Amino acid sequence: MSMTPRDPARPLSENQHLLKWVEKMAHLTKPAAIHWVDGSEEEHAALCQQMVDSGTLIRLNQEQWPGCYYARSHASDVARVEDRTFICSLSKDSAGPMNNWEDPFKMRKKLKAIFNGCMQGRTMYVLPFSMGPIGSPMSQIGVQLTDSPYVVVNTRIMARIGLPVFKLIDKNVKRVVPCLHSVGAPLAPGQKDVPWPCNNEKYIVHFPESREIWSYGSGYGGNALLGKKCFALRIASNMARDEGWMAEHMLILGVENPQGEKTYVAAAFPSACGKTNLAMLIPPASFPGWKVWTVGDDIAWIKPDDKGKLRAINPEAGFFGVAPGTGDHTNPNAMATLRSNTIFTNVALTPDGGVWWEGMTETPPERCIDWQGNEWTPASGTKAAHPNARFTAPASQCPTIDPAWEDPNGVPLSAIIFGGRRASTIPLVYQAFNWSSGVYMGATMGSETTAAAAGVQGKVRRDPMAMLPFCGYHMGDYFRHWLKMQRTLTETPRIFHVNWFRKDEQGKFLWPGFSENMRILKWIVDRSRVRALARETPIGWMPRYDDIDWSGMPFPKETFEQLQSFKGSDWISEVIGHEELFIQLHDHLPPEMIYERELLICRLRFD
Ligand code: OXD
Ligand code: MN
Repeated sequence: MSMTPRDPARPLSENQHLLKWVEKMAHLTKPAAIHWVDGSEEEHAALCQQMVDSGTLIRLNQEQWPGCYYARSHASDVARVEDRTFICSLSKDSAGPMNNWEDPFKMRKKLKAIFNGCMQGRTMYVLPFSMGPIGSPMSQIGVQLTDSPYVVVNTRIMARIGLPVFKLIDKNVKRVVPCLHSVGAPLAPGQKDVPWPCNNEKYIVHFPESREIWSYGSGYGGNALLGKKCFALRIASNMARDEGWMAEHMLILGVENPQGEKTYVAAAFPSACGKTNLAMLIPPASFPGWKVWTVGDDIAWIKPDDKGKLRAINPEAGFFGVAPGTGDHTNPNAMATLRSNTIFTNVALTPDGGVWWEGMTETPPERCIDWQGNEWTPASGTKAAHPNARFTAPASQCPTIDPAWEDPNGVPLSAIIFGGRRASTIPLVYQAFNWSSGVYMGATMGSETTAAAAGVQGKVRRDPMAMLPFCGYHMGDYFRHWLKMQRTLTETPRIFHVNWFRKDEQGKFLWPGFSENMRILKWIVDRSRVRALARETPIGWMPRYDDIDWSGMPFPKETFEQLQSFKGSDWISEVIGHEELFIQLHDHLPPEMIYERELLICRLRFD
């Protein structure tokens, strides 16, 4: 029996809305061909081969890096573009002051003009994806039309794609979120393509009421893999508000104690605060029988179950992690995850067909090709990998992936952690008094800007719940939604704040971090099970020195006290910082935020 290859132009769905939309968008963007993505192994292999031939991908040494590929982006297309990201709600007021807004009718007109003919000479892929396990009641479905085969092979790792999703669409069980994406680089007849097509003009646009995403000009990360930040956070935060659930920028992990009890925790940190490292933490040797399980490293969808307890899923299927700083010493689980079937972007290429980045090994290779394609040696004085270089790796390959990570009903959530990068003022760990003081804690969290983000270094940027770039509506309404959630719950998770980054007067970190964070995590899960002691302070509940398990790590009591200290004089500026945020949100700010601030001021001593 001979197998004839399927014709990729033949639609894989019978859904009339989908067929019409594809036709309409093809009419607008004028691709040379249409390819319905089935998600199969053969299709994946063919797409990778096609990109190897065109120069977009380099196949890595298959003995050392089986199934791995390497891509180098254009130097102008290396990160999310927040200033080109728009929330086009019907009214400006619903987008709020933290989002860029444009009138949706004007924006649609503009987009129709720039998308006109933008796929000429390219193939338009019809890429169906499920955020969350296929068929889970907590999952959502989208279809991305894209002219980037790089996006197709990355999304195959980051989400569930292909035939099973078309089947769901044909059953008409859920509303489909339409996502249109183009790199914005049409090809004239006979024009030779470049390895990384993109456009200097970029638009990442969300229409929250009609639940649509239009993205133009970039092929990189969150700008182009639309299921991630655009759908799973910006559009999903709108769905969640309307439907009574939460779409959060949080990792999810499970802590197992020696008795085999598991406690699930979600944690929100701004970008570049080590979320992937915490999600894959390996407890110190002095914690026998303790284990940390990974459910997700970036996004959590959280919903009350029929008993009024919150449950969480990771809507993603892969990790889109920052490579620099990831190594066998800092995160061996991430290193094991990315050993095969991974796509590396903007790291350096070694002479033996492998990859390298700063922090992967202590000694750099003698020479390699840097992320811009130039010869590099340790004496070059430049970075071999771009600071935002990434790996796209399947979550299923993580050695600590939780057995329940694909449970369609999610995992039960007992604690929520907020955190940021703060050299002073904020203690290592403390617990909010209750849900509303916890919401205040999350709403006012801040982080010092690092070299990786724009802005003055070391300045505290308020980043409520780490959602500043990702909340798809007014931040004041988002706080209100958080507060409202409590009324739907019979049991609320305990809320904590951590700061791994506190420094002494000499600028030295006071806390070792990494594996040792297990000690703090243990206190957190024990508090959530009402098993650990604490003392009440003006800012929340805090562990005393003896409430932390120091086995195997003699840690000076004075240093711990320095880490936990909070000074009235520091907190005056802290509370003024909160107020600056609140003033911007004033006409949508829930009154609880004002009361919580007042209570905090009343409890503090400013002498
Ligand atoms: C990310 C981010 O890429 O938060 O996850 O920027
Ligand atoms: Mn993130």
